[in-house]
Amino acid sequence: EKGGYEHFMFKEIMEQPKAFRDTISPRIQDGRVVLEGLNLTAEDLKALDKIYVIACGSSYHVGMAAKYTLERLLRKPVEVTLASEFRYCDPIVTPRTLALVISQSGETIDTLAAMREARRLGARLLSIVNVVGSTIARESDDVLYTWAGPEIAVATTKAYSTQLAVIYLIGLCFADLMGTITPEEYAAVVEELQNIPDKMEEILSHREDIQYFASIYFNHPSIFFIGRNIDYAVGLEGSLKLKEISYIHSEAYAAGELKHGTISLIEPGTLVVALASYGKLFEKLMSNVVEVKSRGADVLGVTTASLEEEMAKTVDHAIAVPDTHPMLLPSLDVVPLQLFAYYVALMRGCDIDKPRNLAKSVTVE
Ligand code: F6R
Repeated sequence: EKGGYEHFMFKEIMEQPKAFRDTISPRIQDGRVVLEGLNLTAEDLKALDKIYVIACGSSYHVGMAAKYTLERLLRKPVEVTLASEFRYCDPIVTPRTLALVISQSGETIDTLAAMREARRLGARLLSIVNVVGSTIARESDDVLYTWAGPEIAVATTKAYSTQLAVIYLIGLCFADLMGTITPEEYAAVVEELQNIPDKMEEILSHREDIQYFASIYFNHPSIFFIGRNIDYAVGLEGSLKLKEISYIHSEAYAAGELKHGTISLIEPGTLVVALASYGKLFEKLMSNVVEVKSRGADVLGVTTASLEEEMAKTVDHAIAVPDTHPMLLPSLDVVPLQLFAYYVALMRGCDIDKPRNLAKSVTVE
């Protein structure tokens, strides 16, 4: 059942191109995004005062990436909140608020409780769920399923990737209805979205490079992930993946925030994973890399093929993902980080599919 692999997590990492394709293909017809099960009209969307993303863990990290993407496309405020905080923060929700609920299992109790509270306050509920017929799916006004198939490993990989895929579809569909995207950009993103599975495949085929980097760094006591914008959102996920299965202490920081405190933790030999795939902010991020290098950090960089040579001048090792539309970068960037976490945990002899103290579906508060 593990498809010949040693762990479900690895199998699920390898299944991502297919899962991504299965999630987008039925919803792209003649170059248009068609979302069955979504009954929001252009008028509903234009009237929205805010989109409130509600989720936990990795699903929350998808929400972080969604904020950058949806705000850019829709020019509407997107607030991302941890479900466990939402109920107790007196959230500002009106009948013109769309609650976007993200959950693989569809049973996470914090998420469920938060969405019930959002409903009570009048929000409309749109959920992105993997498990068909789960409680969160049943209690939503609209549901968009991620067609990732069953996910067994506690650490999510293919559910994260397919949740992101649905975010892009929602962004395109809403932006089209609201008239906030040009036909050229719409066409370019739709086309590039369909190239993502092959590009994921390409990253997976170079997994031995990542295994090699893992063999260099698997004994590091502490690892930092830095990035800006969508690279920061992906860093949060890379850090969670690593710490939950390898038990190495790790933190993700918005790179510009380092100098406001955390840089004091950087010492000779600290590993910093620097995410610099977003071309617009490449120079800014590289200036943060110089700051940590000058304090003795080892730096493993992640960027796109076209920026790899430039990055390699400063970092110790560079990982390149194929170039793509900037909006879609998180889908590619996350793959080497999942592999890195996997190989590090493997080298440390950890129980990869069932990390200590964790459950796949968190049904207690
Ligand atoms: C991390 C992980 C968890 C889940 C979180 C939410 O790898 O799997 O952080 O993302 O417990 O679960 P769902 O998406 O089922 O609501």
